[in-house]
Amino acid sequence: RRVRIDVVTIFPGYLAPLREALLGRAIEAGLVELGVHDLRDWTHDVHQAVDDSPYGGGPGMVMRPQVWGEALDAVLAAGPARLVVPTPAGRPFTQATAQAWAGEERLVFACGRYEGIDQRVVDSYAARMPVDEVSIGDYVLVGGEVAVMVMVEAVVRLLPGVLGNPVSAQEDSFSDGLLEGPAYTRPVSWRGLDVPEVLRSGNHAAIARWRRDRALERTAARRPDLLDALPEDALDRADRAF
Ligand code: ADE
Repeated sequence: RRVRIDVVTIFPGYLAPLREALLGRAIEAGLVELGVHDLRDWTHDVHQAVDDSPYGGGPGMVMRPQVWGEALDAVLAAGPARLVVPTPAGRPFTQATAQAWAGEERLVFACGRYEGIDQRVVDSYAARMPVDEVSIGDYVLVGGEVAVMVMVEAVVRLLPGVLGNPVSAQEDSFSDGLLEGPAYTRPVSWRGLDVPEVLRSGNHAAIARWRRDRALERTAARRPDLLDALPEDALDRADRAF
């Protein structure tokens, strides 16, 4: 299976890192097809203007709907897709979102800059295809480009054949609703700090129990909201005893 990903942006060079490392290898292996498009290719004026002042007044500029319409019509002509618009005003992007999108054939990302894209662009496409306005966290970036890199990386690593060891994706933080606990490698002793004895014991049940306890402990300390959100049956008696 091959996944097609298109990104429309006024800074195509900003997305260049997507062709490096793990993602670059996924592209070379033919698991992912990536298209990065310059929004200004669809302007008609000499200034290649993509933005204008907001109706109702206020600071900043809003991206014009006509140029986005032409760009997205052209990119979407290749076939059905899910349209993703990164914005701090979107629904949260989570591991569950990444998992769902990893099952899609085609994702098209529309990167807004300035104060965003004219809302009619989203409204118009949402009438005929799945459209998600999503945020990668409660902070404001200059534009959607870095958010797209975050989301594409989270999705692509879940595609079959991308990670060397598929078990790594299955045992991620969040896949069981908990944060992952600490990890250790050689040497056994470093700067006076020792690797926990149980991890060297060879007792697989004890190791699993220890890891689960550390995950619970870390999640309680750092992300109590995740513990509260666990389904009723997620914690067994041994977990509760901890
Ligand atoms: N664009 C600007 N800030 C963003 C955020 N937090 N998430 C997604 N897109 C954004």
